[in-house]
Amino acid sequence: MRALATLVMAILSAGCTDPSAPVEAREDAAVGSRDVAAPEPGDPPATGPTLLSETGLYSDFASRTVSPGLFAFATRYDLWSDGAQKARWLYLPPGTKIDNAQMDHWVFPVGTKAFKEFRYAGKLVETRLLMKVRDGTRHDWWQAAYVWKEDGSDAVARLDGVKDALGTGHNVPKQADCTSCHSRVRDGLVGVSAIQLSDPTQNPLGALAAAGRLSTAPPTTIEVPGAGVVKDALAYLHANCGHCHNAESDIQKQTELDLRLLVSHKAPEETGAYTTTVGVRMKHAEESGATEIVVKGAPERSGLWLRMGAGDVTVMPPIGNQTMDPVGLETIRQWIAGWN
Ligand code: HEC
Ligand code: HEC
Repeated sequence: MRALATLVMAILSAGCTDPSAPVEAREDAAVGSRDVAAPEPGDPPATGPTLLSETGLYSDFASRTVSPGLFAFATRYDLWSDGAQKARWLYLPPGTKIDNAQMDHWVFPVGTKAFKEFRYAGKLVETRLLMKVRDGTRHDWWQAAYVWKEDGSDAVARLDGVKDALGTGHNVPKQADCTSCHSRVRDGLVGVSAIQLSDPTQNPLGALAAAGRLSTAPPTTIEVPGAGVVKDALAYLHANCGHCHNAESDIQKQTELDLRLLVSHKAPEETGAYTTTVGVRMKHAEESGATEIVVKGAPERSGLWLRMGAGDVTVMPPIGNQTMDPVGLETIRQWIAGWN
């Protein structure tokens, strides 16, 4: 419990959106090399609609007709969220483009909206919105989870989160938790990125480029390095951990672990999952008892696997789930076990 409390404190202070928080804590929230003006301590948090029916997701709410012009997309590698079924849409204001000149660090036009819908056993529970309301402050994005009413007549922004939403056992995160995962990449969105849109069958990346929505032509194919379980493990760590553990993240002050893939990575050995793990001493060893992040061939002595919930430790990822992902855990175990 102590460990959990410390972690929660660390995350809250690092990802704090509260404008009344001490300036020092807010300084920590800056994502290192973000190309925006230095934020003022008094920047007000972004505000946005209180009802989903006011967000523009649907052109006809009653029949759940998604507005024309919204771009439906799936991520190539899924984030585990208690086994939810998800749907996602992107809206870009007419005539605007995403600045993707840095292929791994996209910057979005003001007015961008991204939606993500969560269903549990088919039941519509929450729809999340990230909406860029301005440029150049620390609080550029309105972020909210809209929790559906039982009768489906609308969904309401619940900034304080909801436990066991609609009796599904799923907890809807608080607004401050959105910041923890969405403020540690260059500009808010995590799955709207070259690697995550690179599914070869659906090719959402190619579709965005063809629609004239990218400033720079993306690579025609993107492959995660490696094969078999190595490839699966790198993809899993990218999707589930890379939004917090990456070279631009303020969490680098706490651990240099880097699990985010870059388009330029061609071999597993070039990725942070290799260069920042094997033989690297844990900064937070007390959490799991392991002294190294990865010990080749020995998952049971590797902090990376242990922190994913294999023991009685502060589980990684630290928020967003009530259950751990059995498939992901087994992928990581096999990857480390087979490493020699
Ligand atoms: C544990 C980390 C985590 C938390 C907490 C979290 N998200 Fe996300 N979110 C992600 C990741 C990773 C993706 C991309 C992968 C995916 O969509 O499955 C994502 C995707 C999204 C998307 C689709 C656009 C994009 O960035 O790809 C929206 C919209 C979104 N989240 C909104 C929210 C809101 C609003 C909250 C808070 C209520 C929230 N998220 C909390 C990790 C998180
Ligand atoms: C919401 C942000 C967030 C996400 C997502 C996240 N982590 Fe972490 N992680 C942290 C923070 C903050 C720390 C440092 C404090 C601590 O050790 O609890 C940390 C520490 C760690 C450490 C200890 C590193 C050391 O040097 O001691 C490991 C290992 C780790 N995380 C693995 C993972 C893995 C694997 C995933 C994905 C399955 C993941 N994390 C997802 C925030 C996150």
